Amino acid sequence: MDRILITSAIPYINGIKHLGNLVGSQLPADLYARYCRARGREVMFLCATDEHGTPAELAAAKAGKPVAEYCAEMWQVQKDLSDGFGLSFDQFGRSSSEQNRDLTQYFAGRLYEAGLIEERSETQVFSKADGRFLPDRYIEGTCPNCGYERARGDQCENCTKQLDPTDLIDPRSAISGSTDLEERETKHLYLKQSQMRDQLRDWINSKTDWPVLTTSIAKKWLDDGDGLQDRGITRDLDWGVPVKRGTEDWPGMEGKVFYVWFDAPIEYIAAAHEWADARGLSQKDWYRWWRTDAGAEDVRYVQFMGKDNVPFHTLSFPVTIMGANSVGREQWKLVDYIKSFNYLNYDGGQFSTSQGRGVFMDQALSILPADYWRWWLLRNAPETSDAEFTWDSFQGAANKDLADTLGNFVSRVTKFCRSKFGEEVPQGGVPGPAEEALIADLQVRLENYQAHMEAIEVRKAAAELRAIWVAGNEYLQSTAPWAAFKEDPDRAAAIIRLSLNLIRLYAILSAPFIPNAARAMLTALDTDDAWPGDVAAALTHLPAGHAFSVPENLFSKITDDQRAEWAEMFSGVRT
Ligand code: MF3
Ligand code: ZN
Repeated sequence: MDRILITSAIPYINGIKHLGNLVGSQLPADLYARYCRARGREVMFLCATDEHGTPAELAAAKAGKPVAEYCAEMWQVQKDLSDGFGLSFDQFGRSSSEQNRDLTQYFAGRLYEAGLIEERSETQVFSKADGRFLPDRYIEGTCPNCGYERARGDQCENCTKQLDPTDLIDPRSAISGSTDLEERETKHLYLKQSQMRDQLRDWINSKTDWPVLTTSIAKKWLDDGDGLQDRGITRDLDWGVPVKRGTEDWPGMEGKVFYVWFDAPIEYIAAAHEWADARGLSQKDWYRWWRTDAGAEDVRYVQFMGKDNVPFHTLSFPVTIMGANSVGREQWKLVDYIKSFNYLNYDGGQFSTSQGRGVFMDQALSILPADYWRWWLLRNAPETSDAEFTWDSFQGAANKDLADTLGNFVSRVTKFCRSKFGEEVPQGGVPGPAEEALIADLQVRLENYQAHMEAIEVRKAAAELRAIWVAGNEYLQSTAPWAAFKEDPDRAAAIIRLSLNLIRLYAILSAPFIPNAARAMLTALDTDDAWPGDVAAALTHLPAGHAFSVPENLFSKITDDQRAEWAEMFSGVRT
């Protein structure tokens, strides 16, 4: 497949994200996007901020700002941090964009035409102390499914079950803490998800290549019966997409907005529209990513998300797409592959935004450059189980993998060459058995690495990459060019010529993980980044006589003092 559409779950606008959020969607999505681009595929990589709903309103109220102003400011903060981490989105959009407003209303219109929307009078929780309805996260209580005591009105974070505020046991207001609540009558639109259960089941059952984490959560809520309850898709709130069907008003729905989980995934589509608009491109340019009847037939669409997001992406959003498509006037793209992640914990507990526990994206970049974090996070991505960040593990990975293995190789080879042969690829000598053995080993490892990247097996890919770095070090250690040079300078030249080419190979293969170091390596070598087919050919790419410069030290080691200082600094809650 030569065209790949990639989306990362769109982060809530309510504050700076922590490293657990980052590794749960955006960072692995970036890894895959960079890899696909490096393989010559056409990539559209989209993300955005999730700006509607109660998380945004609550955070703006806490910051004492109008919600629109708060969102505009926080979008810029999140955008700068995503740039800082090297997240290579083609568009980092906003779910509050007019493109998303129009598309959300448009999809609602199509679902209405399809007979999938129903108006219901229902009771919603009203707080007398707060003088308002309490939808979604405005209410907290005990989960009826698992007993978790801090479940929110829209979902239990602990067991991933989607909830309605009236499901909670011992509910309380998230604004005032008041338990003086009553149920009041109000009218809302419901999406008749249950009508699509069979179609959804067939679709999910056809996805035999999906990660078990994804399909197990999807099937759990699909067959639970409850999981596919019809869902209210409107709310009594001011902030959000006004309820309309297409461009027409919706009688009886005046003053209401769509539920955030209805408009947020539609932002995946709207982000492509924003991308086209920002570049003066036309509708056809973004339709070719999203409309399978208008150019997107051969697109492969891959989504990345944390496990708590899986029900919304395997059930709710597909209902929106399938439902709109069932009208038969156009066909929107359904996801082809969903890569989901478990949670990353922090030093014996959970990362927590509300409690300010853990390391947040701005703090991380203030102590070390992005590549250190990218490497640790991806190498330890919580794929098959939850993972844990400890400062010890972070120090170990940075020092052993990045400084001692990769960084040291680059530094030894370039400095040795400069002192003995000058700053150009040396000539003389021919490859011997040691080189042949290395090439054969690396050819196998390259193919493994590619297979893991294709399968989005992040940890396995990182382990193979590390093994590729180690192989170069072992080669250098065993061929010892510094010793060979004394008796046979040609032999040393052959070793160094191959090793300089190995630096280039390392830069290309490592770029999806550590793009900044990779760029520095390629710049020092003054070379291109064409993906290697055959290792033997790649290792003769830089010919004798090609000029290079010795790069600055790529990585410095984390000292024990630094480790202790950071562990202490991040042991409490963020103030
Ligand atoms: N903001 C949500 C979260 O952080 C994710 C939304 S993903 C989308 O959990 F599908 F709605 F876009
Ligand atoms: Zn629960």
